[in-house]
Amino acid sequence: MLREFILYSRLGRTDSNFANLHDAGRLDIVYECTVTSLFLSHAIRKGTLFHAILNGPPNPPLHLKIEGQTLHDVRTDQQTWQKILKNVLSGKQHPGITTAKTSFETLLKTKANASQIYVLEEHGKPIDTTAITENPVFVLGDHVGLPKKTETFALRYGEKISLGKTPYLAATCITILNYLLDKEQTS
Ligand SMILES: C[S@@+](CC[C@H](N)C(=O)[O-])C[C@H]1O[C@@H](n2cnc3c(N)ncnc32)[C@H](O)[C@@H]1O
Repeated sequence: MLREFILYSRLGRTDSNFANLHDAGRLDIVYECTVTSLFLSHAIRKGTLFHAILNGPPNPPLHLKIEGQTLHDVRTDQQTWQKILKNVLSGKQHPGITTAKTSFETLLKTKANASQIYVLEEHGKPIDTTAITENPVFVLGDHVGLPKKTETFALRYGEKISLGKTPYLAATCITILNYLLDKEQTS
Protein backbone atom coordinates (compact mmCIF):
# COMPACT_ATOMS: atom_id res chain seq x y z
CA MET A 1 0.00 0.00 0.00
CA LEU A 2 1.28 3.43 -0.99
CA ARG A 3 0.98 6.35 1.45
CA GLU A 4 1.27 9.96 0.47
CA PHE A 5 1.45 13.14 2.52
CA ILE A 6 1.05 16.62 1.02
CA LEU A 7 2.14 19.59 3.12
CA TYR A 8 0.88 23.01 2.02
CA SER A 9 3.60 25.49 2.98
CA ARG A 10 2.34 29.09 2.70
CA LEU A 11 5.73 30.73 2.89
CA GLY A 12 8.39 28.05 2.26
CA ARG A 13 11.19 29.63 0.18
CA THR A 14 11.52 28.55 -3.42
CA ASP A 15 15.23 29.27 -3.77
CA SER A 16 18.35 28.43 -1.75
CA ASN A 17 18.94 31.94 -0.46
CA PHE A 18 18.54 31.36 3.29
CA ALA A 19 20.67 31.05 6.40
CA ASN A 20 18.53 28.52 8.26
CA LEU A 21 15.38 26.47 7.66
CA HIS A 22 13.22 28.33 10.17
CA ASP A 23 13.85 31.72 8.57
CA ALA A 24 13.26 30.28 5.09
CA GLY A 25 9.46 30.58 5.48
CA ARG A 26 9.40 27.71 7.99
CA LEU A 27 11.17 25.09 5.86
CA ASP A 28 11.92 23.54 9.27
CA ILE A 29 8.32 22.24 9.15
CA VAL A 30 9.02 20.71 5.73
CA TYR A 31 12.11 19.04 7.25
CA GLU A 32 10.18 17.72 10.28
CA CYS A 33 7.37 16.35 8.09
CA THR A 34 9.91 14.73 5.75
CA VAL A 35 11.47 12.84 8.65
CA THR A 36 8.18 11.69 10.22
CA SER A 37 6.77 10.68 6.80
CA LEU A 38 9.73 8.69 5.52
CA PHE A 39 11.94 7.45 8.34
CA LEU A 40 11.67 4.38 10.50
CA SER A 41 14.41 3.47 12.96
CA HIS A 42 17.31 2.46 10.66
CA ALA A 43 15.14 2.28 7.54
CA ILE A 44 13.26 4.37 5.01
CA ARG A 45 9.59 3.77 4.28
CA LYS A 46 9.84 2.59 0.67
CA GLY A 47 6.09 2.80 0.05
CA THR A 48 5.75 6.44 1.10
CA LEU A 49 5.83 9.69 -0.84
CA PHE A 50 6.13 13.09 0.81
CA HIS A 51 5.17 16.24 -1.09
CA ALA A 52 5.53 19.86 -0.04
CA ILE A 53 4.05 22.68 -2.08
CA LEU A 54 6.18 25.73 -1.34
CA ASN A 55 4.41 29.03 -1.86
CA GLY A 56 7.08 31.44 -0.67
CA PRO A 57 9.34 33.82 -2.62
CA PRO A 58 10.85 34.16 -5.12
CA ASN A 59 9.22 31.64 -7.55
CA PRO A 60 6.07 30.03 -6.14
CA PRO A 61 4.62 27.51 -6.40
CA LEU A 62 7.22 24.77 -6.22
CA HIS A 63 6.39 21.09 -5.78
CA LEU A 64 9.06 19.26 -3.78
CA LYS A 65 8.60 15.48 -4.01
CA ILE A 66 10.54 13.00 -1.87
CA GLU A 67 10.14 9.29 -2.70
CA GLY A 68 10.98 6.66 -0.09
CA GLN A 69 11.58 4.11 -2.84
CA THR A 70 14.60 5.93 -4.29
CA LEU A 71 15.76 8.25 -1.48
CA HIS A 72 19.47 7.79 -0.68
CA ASP A 73 22.37 9.55 1.05
CA VAL A 74 20.26 10.91 3.90
CA ARG A 75 20.26 11.15 7.67
CA THR A 76 17.56 12.46 9.98
CA ASP A 77 19.30 15.54 11.41
CA GLN A 78 18.32 19.08 10.48
CA GLN A 79 21.82 20.06 9.34
CA THR A 80 21.84 17.30 6.71
CA TRP A 81 18.41 18.34 5.43
CA GLN A 82 19.31 22.02 5.36
CA LYS A 83 22.14 21.07 2.98
CA ILE A 84 19.90 18.80 0.88
CA LEU A 85 17.11 21.38 0.59
CA LYS A 86 19.58 24.12 -0.31
CA ASN A 87 21.00 21.87 -3.02
CA VAL A 88 17.71 20.87 -4.60
CA LEU A 89 16.35 24.43 -4.37
CA SER A 90 19.38 25.63 -6.28
CA GLY A 91 18.71 23.11 -9.05
CA LYS A 92 21.14 20.35 -7.98
CA GLN A 93 20.17 16.67 -7.97
CA HIS A 94 19.64 14.41 -4.97
CA PRO A 95 18.51 10.76 -5.34
CA GLY A 96 14.79 10.42 -4.59
CA ILE A 97 14.03 14.16 -4.63
CA THR A 98 12.52 16.17 -7.47
CA THR A 99 11.15 19.68 -7.88
CA ALA A 100 8.57 20.92 -10.38
CA LYS A 101 6.54 24.05 -11.03
CA THR A 102 3.29 22.36 -10.02
CA SER A 103 0.60 24.07 -7.93
CA PHE A 104 -1.26 22.49 -5.02
CA GLU A 105 -4.46 22.50 -7.08
CA THR A 106 -2.87 20.65 -10.02
CA LEU A 107 -1.21 18.08 -7.78
CA LEU A 108 -4.41 17.43 -5.86
CA LYS A 109 -6.51 17.02 -9.00
CA THR A 110 -3.99 14.48 -10.33
CA LYS A 111 -3.94 12.54 -7.07
CA ALA A 112 -7.74 12.52 -6.78
CA ASN A 113 -7.96 10.51 -10.03
CA ALA A 114 -6.41 7.47 -8.36
CA SER A 115 -6.65 7.94 -4.59
CA GLN A 116 -8.91 9.02 -1.78
CA ILE A 117 -7.87 12.42 -0.40
CA TYR A 118 -8.06 13.11 3.35
CA VAL A 119 -7.74 16.71 4.55
CA LEU A 120 -6.44 16.86 8.11
CA GLU A 121 -8.24 19.36 10.34
CA GLU A 122 -9.20 19.35 13.99
CA HIS A 123 -12.93 19.72 13.27
CA GLY A 124 -13.15 16.98 10.66
CA LYS A 125 -14.75 13.54 10.98
CA PRO A 126 -13.02 11.55 13.73
CA ILE A 127 -10.43 9.22 12.21
CA ASP A 128 -11.62 6.34 14.42
CA THR A 129 -14.94 6.33 12.56
CA THR A 130 -13.37 6.72 9.09
CA ALA A 131 -12.35 3.73 6.99
CA ILE A 132 -9.03 4.74 5.39
CA THR A 133 -8.92 3.32 1.86
CA GLU A 134 -5.93 1.78 0.01
CA ASN A 135 -3.24 4.23 -1.15
CA PRO A 136 -4.45 7.21 0.88
CA VAL A 137 -3.30 10.79 0.28
CA PHE A 138 -3.27 13.05 3.36
CA VAL A 139 -3.23 16.87 3.10
CA LEU A 140 -1.86 18.99 5.94
CA GLY A 141 -1.40 22.69 6.61
CA ASP A 142 1.72 24.35 8.00
CA HIS A 143 2.02 26.23 11.33
CA VAL A 144 -0.87 28.54 10.34
CA GLY A 145 -3.06 25.82 8.85
CA LEU A 146 -4.51 25.57 5.34
CA PRO A 147 -5.73 28.87 3.82
CA LYS A 148 -9.56 28.83 3.69
CA LYS A 149 -9.60 28.96 -0.14
CA THR A 150 -7.14 26.06 -0.36
CA GLU A 151 -9.14 24.00 2.12
CA THR A 152 -12.37 24.65 0.18
CA PHE A 153 -10.63 23.53 -3.03
CA ALA A 154 -9.20 20.39 -1.37
CA LEU A 155 -12.62 19.45 0.00
CA ARG A 156 -14.01 19.30 -3.55
CA TYR A 157 -11.80 16.23 -3.94
CA GLY A 158 -11.51 14.83 -0.42
CA GLU A 159 -13.01 14.55 3.03
CA LYS A 160 -12.00 16.33 6.21
CA ILE A 161 -10.74 14.06 8.99
CA SER A 162 -9.65 14.80 12.55
CA LEU A 163 -7.21 13.27 15.02
CA GLY A 164 -9.18 14.87 17.86
CA LYS A 165 -9.59 18.38 19.27
CA THR A 166 -5.93 18.73 20.32
CA PRO A 167 -3.99 20.91 17.85
CA TYR A 168 -0.87 18.94 16.90
CA LEU A 169 2.19 19.91 14.89
CA ALA A 170 1.85 18.83 11.26
CA ALA A 171 4.79 16.42 11.77
CA THR A 172 3.09 14.89 14.83
CA CYS A 173 -0.07 14.29 12.76
CA ILE A 174 2.03 12.35 10.24
CA THR A 175 3.53 10.22 13.04
CA ILE A 176 0.04 9.44 14.35
CA LEU A 177 -1.23 8.55 10.84
CA ASN A 178 1.76 6.31 10.17
CA TYR A 179 1.23 4.60 13.53
CA LEU A 180 -2.46 3.96 12.86
CA LEU A 181 -1.81 2.68 9.31
CA ASP A 182 1.11 0.49 10.46
CA LYS A 183 -1.11 -1.04 13.14
CA GLU A 184 -3.85 -1.75 10.61
CA GLN A 185 -1.41 -3.36 8.17
CA THR A 186 0.13 -5.69 10.73
CA SER A 187 -3.13 -6.71 12.44
C1 LIG B 1 0.18 23.25 13.56
S1 LIG B 1 -1.29 22.76 12.77
C2 LIG B 1 -1.97 24.29 12.33
C3 LIG B 1 -2.75 24.84 13.40
C4 LIG B 1 -3.53 26.04 12.95
N1 LIG B 1 -3.74 26.86 14.12
C5 LIG B 1 -4.87 25.70 12.30
O1 LIG B 1 -5.87 26.26 12.72
O2 LIG B 1 -4.93 24.88 11.37
C6 LIG B 1 -0.76 22.15 11.24
C7 LIG B 1 -1.70 21.21 10.55
O3 LIG B 1 -1.76 19.99 11.28
C8 LIG B 1 -3.04 19.40 11.09
N2 LIG B 1 -3.62 19.17 12.42
C9 LIG B 1 -3.18 19.63 13.61
N3 LIG B 1 -3.91 19.13 14.61
C10 LIG B 1 -4.82 18.30 14.06
C11 LIG B 1 -5.86 17.46 14.58
N4 LIG B 1 -6.11 17.38 15.88
N5 LIG B 1 -6.58 16.75 13.70
C12 LIG B 1 -6.35 16.81 12.36
N6 LIG B 1 -5.39 17.57 11.82
C13 LIG B 1 -4.64 18.31 12.65
C14 LIG B 1 -3.84 20.33 10.19
O4 LIG B 1 -3.71 19.89 8.85
C15 LIG B 1 -3.13 21.66 10.40
O5 LIG B 1 -3.30 22.51 9.28
